[in-house]
Order: sequence, then structure tokens, then C-alpha cells
Amino acid sequence: MTHLILLAALAATSFSVVVAQGIVPLVDKRFTYDNIPYRVDTDVGQPRGEQRGYNICNSTTEGPSSLCQTAFINSLDDFCLWAPAESGHTVGEIEGEMIAWCTKPGHGTRVIPDGTILGVQFTKSPDYVQVVGFMDQTKINMIAGDAGGEMDPHGADRRGNPMGGLLFTNAWTGGMIQSVEWHNFNGANMFCLKACDPRGPRAPQMCEHIYDTQGCGFNTPSNARRGAFESCASDSQNPPRTRRTSASGVVTVQHVRKHRDLWCERQCYRAYTWSGEY
Ligand SMILES: *[C@@H]1O[C@H](CO)[C@@H](O)[C@H](O)[C@H]1NC(C)=O
Repeated sequence: MTHLILLAALAATSFSVVVAQGIVPLVDKRFTYDNIPYRVDTDVGQPRGEQRGYNICNSTTEGPSSLCQTAFINSLDDFCLWAPAESGHTVGEIEGEMIAWCTKPGHGTRVIPDGTILGVQFTKSPDYVQVVGFMDQTKINMIAGDAGGEMDPHGADRRGNPMGGLLFTNAWTGGMIQSVEWHNFNGANMFCLKACDPRGPRAPQMCEHIYDTQGCGFNTPSNARRGAFESCASDSQNPPRTRRTSASGVVTVQHVRKHRDLWCERQCYRAYTWSGEY
């Protein structure tokens, strides 16, 4: 089923439910960078409880107890992943409560410890920016061996995973703008985060949220390599699972084509990290 058909089906069948619960889907909430509320998700009395953290993040909130849920993807050395606030739970168990862990201080979040990121490719394409890479997931409170799962601004109740999670980037205009459609898969010591450009026509397709069991290789195929840190310009991959219907009605499912690197700039491991010994 394509995203558009799914949306149409949702609109047709569940409008009364949405009104009854009073939930505004996270994907419909738009913010400018200077107008972020304390909490994006103000729903109370819902089955999944309230938003775990907050969206106004600053030097006061930064550090190992931060519950900041405003994330960024700006460049090779400046991005965040959604990970647990405490260890002991799988991604699947607490995807609604993930908080932002960032490669650098300065965002009011937790800071990803040195030695966590073991290789990453940052890619900027006409439709999105993404980071894909390898990590020691236990350093960001994930369980060793957890195959992980998907975070995105949807979810069965449309409050997002995490609930109230926001993603911003300055990669497109130089100023911070909200990426409305995005997906982040963390698990099996890999991560991938793709932020789709809301100004482009294909954001919902490129950042499709329905292939949550398929992981990075399917949703964000890349040329990331362990031990390599590179920033690339690329063309766009095919949207995950592109279906084509021929004139005679034959449906074919295309293999996902990963992006093609146009140019890449490698950075050494030491330059990539902001501190620490290697
Ligand atoms: C810093 O963030 C906290 C938590 O969101 C908020 O309560 C506080 O008002 C912020 N401080 C400033 C100076 O914006």
C-alpha cells in the first residue's frame, strides 16, 4: 500500500476517532526554530501517557540527565540519534520515550560518548539529508544485541516515536528548519537517520514510516563503512519499495536503489571527535 492510499484510508475511517481523542498528529505540528513550545505533545489521558521530556533545550538541560526531545541533523559531526534515557529496555519497548543524544554539546541534550560512533556517512541529496553508520549501541543506553526499531513522527496513535520528538536541520537553507518527515533506525550496532526536505514533493515517500521491521539496509541504503567518516553529496535513493504499475496493469516492486555519491570528503577520526583519546 502506498503512503497516499494509507493516508486516504486513515482519513476515511478514523476521522471521528481523531476528533474524539482530540489528538493532532505530530506530523501536522509545524514550528519555527525560535517558536518551539516547552512540550510539543500536550495530550493527557491517552493510553501511552504523556510526553517523556521537553522541547525547549538549553545549557541548563544539557548533560547526562537531559530529557531533551528536540534533535538535529546538520552535518557529519553534528547530528543526534533517538536513544533511551535509561538502560534496560529494548527500542521496541520505549520508542515512544526516546530522547536526543547528539554528537556535540550545544543542543541542550545528552552528548554521545566518545567511542560510540565507529564510522558514519553523511549524505545530502536533493530530497533529504541522512547519516548512516556503525556504533557501540551500549554506550547510548541500548541493550547489547537489541536489533532495535524505528523512530518516526507517526506511530499507531500518531503522537510520534518519540511522542513529541522534533527534528531540525540547517543543512538546506543555512537557517534551522523543521524536518517534518524523518525516520531513524537504531539497532544491531547500526544507526540511520534520514530527514526529508519538507519543501520537496517526495518527503513522505522518501521518509516512509511503514517499513519499521526492515532496518537501515532497506530504508536508507548507503555507502557507510566501519572506520570511515565521510560527508557526501549524492543523488536521491528510490523511495523504499517503489511500486510501478504498467499500462497493462502489471505491478512490479523495484529493488531499492541506494543513492549514488557525487563527491565525498573524508574526515579523520580524530578531527571528527571533539575530545577524547583514540
Ligand atoms: C531552559 O530549558 C528549560 C527546560 O525546557 C526551560 O524550563 C527554561 O525556561 C529554559 N531556559 C531559558 C533561559 O530559556
